[in-house]
Amino acid sequence: MNSNIPEIAPNTPPAEILRTGIAAAGGPVSLACSFSLEDVAIIDIAHQAGLNLGVFAIDTGRLNEETYEVADALTERYRLKIDWYFPKHEDVEQLEREKGLFSFRESLDNRHECCHIRKVEPLIRSLKNLKGWVTGMRREQSVTRSELKAIELDEPNGGILKINPLIDWSERQVMDYAKEHNLPTNRLYKQGYRSIGCAPCTRAIGPWDHVRDGRWWWENAENKECGLHRR
Ligand code: ADX
Ligand code: SF4
Repeated sequence: MNSNIPEIAPNTPPAEILRTGIAAAGGPVSLACSFSLEDVAIIDIAHQAGLNLGVFAIDTGRLNEETYEVADALTERYRLKIDWYFPKHEDVEQLEREKGLFSFRESLDNRHECCHIRKVEPLIRSLKNLKGWVTGMRREQSVTRSELKAIELDEPNGGILKINPLIDWSERQVMDYAKEHNLPTNRLYKQGYRSIGCAPCTRAIGPWDHVRDGRWWWENAENKECGLHRR
């Protein structure tokens, strides 16, 4: 359990949050990368600041092709080594044999079951040897994220640090950063996607909608977490 949780002033620049968090973690720190605009911006910021930040990604088996293309572009541009994690094949086999390929649409319990098998269990494994992890979460993204802190103690994951360097950024700021630095971005954003997860649980929305309206669109806003970010 890390007892050194630095206090971060509002609107501290992301590179500073990252630097402070990595130092306080006292061991290996990696970005959990979904290849969103946010995560790509964090890779660029860490790269420019010369920070020692690993990158891992969970391949749920249901990601869009466009998402893999971003991973490939990042590997090339930053000479990045991505630590990929997959769900346990026995669990996916059992789920698909018993409940079919779209059970997550049938009930919240079924959706949580699929997210647990495909995302949460691999996440738990990926955090095993880390002292800290970084996410691209922002406070304005959802009602479930408004209380986030820039650096928090992640008690459900063994008391390591959880670092959220873009916590105070708006969607516009992230988009501007990506444009200014010519970052590789997911082609789905141009088709009206604004938050991208697994293909069958993500769809395009309008500019007037809430940024996460295209995720699990059949569920209420307070349920729109997959369990990766337990608090
Ligand atoms: S989710 O919980 O609703 O799926 P969201 O897509 O908003 O999360 O992403 C928030 C952060 O969770 C990302 O910035 C990233 O740090 C992490 N994350 C989400 N999906 C993955 C994934 N497949 N692999 C690794 N990290 C992920
Ligand atoms: Fe399964 Fe959808 Fe969760 Fe992906 S987002 S793990 S497909 S329920």
